[in-house]
Amino acid sequence: MRAYDLIMAKRDGEELSAEAIRWLIDGFTAGEIPDYQIAAFAMAVYFNGMKPVELGALVSSMLHSGDVIEFPNDGRPRIDKHSTGGVGDKMSLPLAPAVAACGVRVPMIAGRGLGHTGGTIDKLEAIPGFQTSRTIEEFKSQVDSIGCCIMSQTLNVAPADKKFYALRDVTATVDCIPLIAASIMSKKIAEGIDGLVLDVKYGNGAFMQTVEQAQNLAQVMVSIGTEMDKRVVARLTSMEQPIGRFVGNAIEVNESIDILKGAGPTDSRALIVELGAEMLVLGEVAQNTEDGRAQISKALDDGSAYEKFKAMVEAQGGDVKSVEQHLPLSGQAYVLEAETAGFIEFPDTRDIGYAALELGGGRKKKSDTIDPGVGFEIYVDAGQKVEAGTPLVKVHHRDGNGLEAAIKLLKEGVLISETPTESPELFGPRIEG
Ligand code: URA
Repeated sequence: MRAYDLIMAKRDGEELSAEAIRWLIDGFTAGEIPDYQIAAFAMAVYFNGMKPVELGALVSSMLHSGDVIEFPNDGRPRIDKHSTGGVGDKMSLPLAPAVAACGVRVPMIAGRGLGHTGGTIDKLEAIPGFQTSRTIEEFKSQVDSIGCCIMSQTLNVAPADKKFYALRDVTATVDCIPLIAASIMSKKIAEGIDGLVLDVKYGNGAFMQTVEQAQNLAQVMVSIGTEMDKRVVARLTSMEQPIGRFVGNAIEVNESIDILKGAGPTDSRALIVELGAEMLVLGEVAQNTEDGRAQISKALDDGSAYEKFKAMVEAQGGDVKSVEQHLPLSGQAYVLEAETAGFIEFPDTRDIGYAALELGGGRKKKSDTIDPGVGFEIYVDAGQKVEAGTPLVKVHHRDGNGLEAAIKLLKEGVLISETPTESPELFGPRIEG
């Protein structure tokens, strides 16, 4: 086979065989096919999409390019959750222990912040001492003993995807549904899961701007999972305003602790209860989602989810005392107030994520270090009526670093409309395999 011929065929809208896709991905991973040919292939896929056989071969080649974790077949299902990312999306932190407290094991390999979205790993690393890098044996043994482990993608998991993603990132081919779906599903299936709940975000703070795009992505991911004998459910959820009340790293850990203690913002808790219920049904410990919701709510309210979280923190070397006391923030704050009376709207939620980046809460380039103590407390919800002078956002900054740029973005991201605005529905369609 020649990469040239396969690129040309894909460019001209032909369907490639599974063998051809495997040959391309294996050759790329081994360094035998150069970046520029795979970049051209990615662009051809961007314009022409992928047929199910091509997609299946892409997922399977990326999945088998590295380690695939295997758990013993002991009849106790392992279920994970993946979110396509948003602003203030700290759901994995309370969700994994809450689900584990109900008896379903959660092996979770999570990512760092990407663009305007925060990353679970960056948030966990705000806890002093917390180790996000684990060996496969440590990962498996913690999932079995405690019930959950959240670690970074430091293992040799789907290395083909890592290489392919880096190339897509610089060739304008990230926002391509089959490539996103293959990337996410190959990594998740490599965790050794039996089932997966997908939280596919849509709206102005998500990568998928419309419900239709999110629905397409969800459908493709659910089909991939089903083809690979995994139980998969996708919930489409709104990202038209930040999730919860806090955005940042340490500050989102603190919100997660509140949720784990049965408190926390209503929307964050609703997401945990809903996604957790789906995980319990897939894990066969709940008869239906109603039963699942009741079990997750109980685990949040009776302290068992919080105890599980502390056990996970301790097992991964984190300082449990600092969790119990809430993590410290920068100690310097500025409060942005409404300049006029009106109704709150979030015309572009990404601005709030980018504002957090300006303060040092994320990375503009790979080598940047994160300041865990900066971030926002957002006092208002979409649709809320405010007066001139009403506090909108408390900005936790460090010595004013990036403060001016962050405030400029916040003023674009949190607008006051003269006419009434609406609070978006949190939950959209549900798709199952
Ligand atoms: N997240 C991933 O893991 N892969 C993509 O391609 C896009 C988002």
